[in-house]
Amino acid sequence: MSKERDNSFEQVVENIQRDIEAEEEALFSKKVIEEYRAPKNVGRMTEPDAFGIVTGSCGDTMEIYLKIRDNRVAGVLFMTDGCGPSIACGSMLTQMVKEKDVWDIEKITNKDLVYALEGLPDENLHCAKLAVDTLKEALRSWDAKDAVDVSKNDKL
Ligand code: FES
Repeated sequence: MSKERDNSFEQVVENIQRDIEAEEEALFSKKVIEEYRAPKNVGRMTEPDAFGIVTGSCGDTMEIYLKIRDNRVAGVLFMTDGCGPSIACGSMLTQMVKEKDVWDIEKITNKDLVYALEGLPDENLHCAKLAVDTLKEALRSWDAKDAVDVSKNDKL
Protein backbone atom coordinates (compact mmCIF):
# COMPACT_ATOMS: atom_id res chain seq x y z
CA MET A 1 0.00 0.00 0.00
CA SER A 2 1.38 3.40 -0.93
CA LYS A 3 2.17 5.98 1.72
CA GLU A 4 -0.53 8.22 0.25
CA ARG A 5 -3.21 5.50 0.62
CA ASP A 6 -2.03 4.74 4.18
CA ASN A 7 -2.51 8.37 5.07
CA SER A 8 -5.99 8.52 3.59
CA PHE A 9 -6.99 5.29 5.41
CA GLU A 10 -5.71 6.74 8.68
CA GLN A 11 -7.61 9.92 7.91
CA VAL A 12 -10.87 7.98 7.38
CA VAL A 13 -10.37 6.09 10.68
CA GLU A 14 -9.60 9.35 12.45
CA ASN A 15 -12.73 10.99 11.02
CA ILE A 16 -14.92 8.04 12.06
CA GLN A 17 -13.41 8.19 15.54
CA ARG A 18 -14.08 11.92 15.73
CA ASP A 19 -17.71 11.41 14.60
CA ILE A 20 -18.25 8.71 17.23
CA GLU A 21 -16.82 10.94 19.94
CA ALA A 22 -18.98 13.87 18.81
CA GLU A 23 -22.08 11.61 18.94
CA GLU A 24 -21.16 10.41 22.45
CA GLU A 25 -20.60 13.96 23.63
CA ALA A 26 -23.98 15.03 22.25
CA LEU A 27 -25.72 12.19 24.10
CA PHE A 28 -23.84 11.79 27.37
CA SER A 29 -22.41 14.00 30.10
CA LYS A 30 -18.64 14.35 30.43
CA LYS A 31 -18.84 12.31 33.64
CA VAL A 32 -20.62 9.37 31.94
CA ILE A 33 -18.05 9.32 29.14
CA GLU A 34 -15.17 9.56 31.61
CA GLU A 35 -16.55 6.67 33.71
CA TYR A 36 -17.23 4.27 30.89
CA ARG A 37 -13.97 4.96 29.12
CA ALA A 38 -11.96 4.31 32.28
CA PRO A 39 -14.22 2.44 34.73
CA LYS A 40 -13.12 1.90 38.31
CA ASN A 41 -13.69 -1.14 40.54
CA VAL A 42 -14.26 -3.64 37.72
CA GLY A 43 -13.83 -7.29 38.60
CA ARG A 44 -15.09 -10.22 40.64
CA MET A 45 -14.30 -11.20 44.23
CA THR A 46 -13.69 -14.76 45.27
CA GLU A 47 -15.06 -14.50 48.82
CA PRO A 48 -17.30 -11.45 49.11
CA ASP A 49 -19.34 -10.76 52.26
CA ALA A 50 -22.21 -9.70 50.02
CA PHE A 51 -23.03 -10.40 46.41
CA GLY A 52 -25.82 -9.35 44.08
CA ILE A 53 -26.60 -10.30 40.50
CA VAL A 54 -29.52 -8.78 38.62
CA THR A 55 -30.68 -8.93 35.01
CA GLY A 56 -32.42 -5.74 34.00
CA SER A 57 -35.41 -5.12 31.76
CA CYS A 58 -33.04 -4.78 28.75
CA GLY A 59 -31.57 -8.27 29.33
CA ASP A 60 -28.19 -7.00 30.55
CA THR A 61 -26.77 -8.25 33.82
CA MET A 62 -24.77 -6.63 36.59
CA GLU A 63 -22.92 -8.19 39.50
CA ILE A 64 -21.77 -6.36 42.64
CA TYR A 65 -19.39 -7.77 45.24
CA LEU A 66 -18.86 -6.22 48.67
CA LYS A 67 -16.36 -6.74 51.48
CA ILE A 68 -17.85 -5.39 54.68
CA ARG A 69 -15.84 -4.63 57.82
CA ASP A 70 -17.39 -3.05 60.93
CA ASN A 71 -20.53 -2.20 58.93
CA ARG A 72 -18.45 -0.35 56.32
CA VAL A 73 -17.73 -1.17 52.70
CA ALA A 74 -14.08 -2.15 52.79
CA GLY A 75 -14.03 -3.35 49.19
CA VAL A 76 -16.34 -3.28 46.19
CA LEU A 77 -16.20 -4.58 42.63
CA PHE A 78 -18.71 -4.78 39.80
CA MET A 79 -19.05 -6.59 36.50
CA THR A 80 -21.55 -6.10 33.69
CA ASP A 81 -22.20 -7.28 30.17
CA GLY A 82 -24.28 -4.15 29.60
CA CYS A 83 -23.96 -0.95 27.60
CA GLY A 84 -21.50 1.92 28.09
CA PRO A 85 -23.86 3.79 30.45
CA SER A 86 -24.25 0.65 32.59
CA ILE A 87 -20.46 0.52 32.91
CA ALA A 88 -20.50 4.20 33.91
CA CYS A 89 -23.26 3.44 36.46
CA GLY A 90 -21.36 0.50 37.98
CA SER A 91 -18.17 2.52 38.13
CA MET A 92 -19.80 5.56 39.75
CA LEU A 93 -21.96 3.56 42.16
CA THR A 94 -19.02 1.52 43.43
CA GLN A 95 -17.10 4.75 44.06
CA MET A 96 -20.13 6.17 45.91
CA VAL A 97 -20.29 3.21 48.32
CA LYS A 98 -16.59 2.71 49.06
CA GLU A 99 -15.77 3.21 52.75
CA LYS A 100 -19.42 4.10 53.45
CA ASP A 101 -21.62 2.71 56.18
CA VAL A 102 -23.92 -0.07 54.93
CA TRP A 103 -26.95 1.64 56.45
CA ASP A 104 -26.17 4.78 54.45
CA ILE A 105 -25.62 3.06 51.12
CA GLU A 106 -28.96 1.31 51.49
CA LYS A 107 -30.53 4.73 51.01
CA ILE A 108 -28.84 5.43 47.63
CA THR A 109 -31.46 5.88 44.91
CA ASN A 110 -31.39 5.75 41.11
CA LYS A 111 -31.76 9.53 41.20
CA ASP A 112 -28.63 9.92 43.37
CA LEU A 113 -26.64 7.86 40.88
CA VAL A 114 -27.95 9.77 37.85
CA TYR A 115 -27.15 13.03 39.64
CA ALA A 116 -23.58 11.88 40.38
CA LEU A 117 -23.20 11.07 36.67
CA GLU A 118 -24.41 14.57 35.76
CA GLY A 119 -27.44 13.09 34.03
CA LEU A 120 -28.35 10.23 31.71
CA PRO A 121 -30.58 10.20 28.63
CA ASP A 122 -34.12 8.95 29.39
CA GLU A 123 -33.50 5.76 27.44
CA ASN A 124 -30.61 4.91 29.77
CA LEU A 125 -32.30 5.56 33.10
CA HIS A 126 -32.93 1.83 33.42
CA CYS A 127 -29.13 1.31 33.40
CA ALA A 128 -28.91 3.30 36.66
CA LYS A 129 -31.82 1.25 38.05
CA LEU A 130 -29.96 -1.95 37.18
CA ALA A 131 -26.89 -0.79 39.13
CA VAL A 132 -28.87 0.34 42.18
CA ASP A 133 -31.04 -2.81 42.16
CA THR A 134 -27.87 -4.92 42.07
CA LEU A 135 -26.44 -3.04 45.05
CA LYS A 136 -29.70 -3.60 47.00
CA GLU A 137 -29.61 -7.28 46.08
CA ALA A 138 -26.03 -7.50 47.40
CA LEU A 139 -27.04 -5.78 50.64
CA ARG A 140 -29.94 -8.21 51.05
CA SER A 141 -27.46 -11.08 50.77
CA TRP A 142 -25.35 -9.64 53.58
CA ASP A 143 -26.00 -11.45 56.77
CA ALA A 144 -27.12 -8.83 59.27
CA LYS A 145 -25.74 -10.96 62.13
CA ASP A 146 -22.34 -9.75 60.89
CA ALA A 147 -23.35 -6.17 61.71
CA VAL A 148 -21.33 -4.64 64.51
CA ASP A 149 -23.34 -3.16 67.35
CA VAL A 150 -21.65 0.25 67.54
CA SER A 151 -23.64 1.15 70.67
CA LYS A 152 -21.41 -1.34 72.51
CA ASN A 153 -18.29 0.47 71.38
CA ASP A 154 -16.90 2.04 74.56
CA LYS A 155 -14.83 4.52 72.57
CA LEU A 156 -18.04 6.30 71.54
FE1 FES B 1 -28.93 -2.68 29.30
FE2 FES B 1 -27.91 -0.22 29.58
S1 FES B 1 -29.01 -1.02 27.90
S2 FES B 1 -27.94 -1.83 31.02
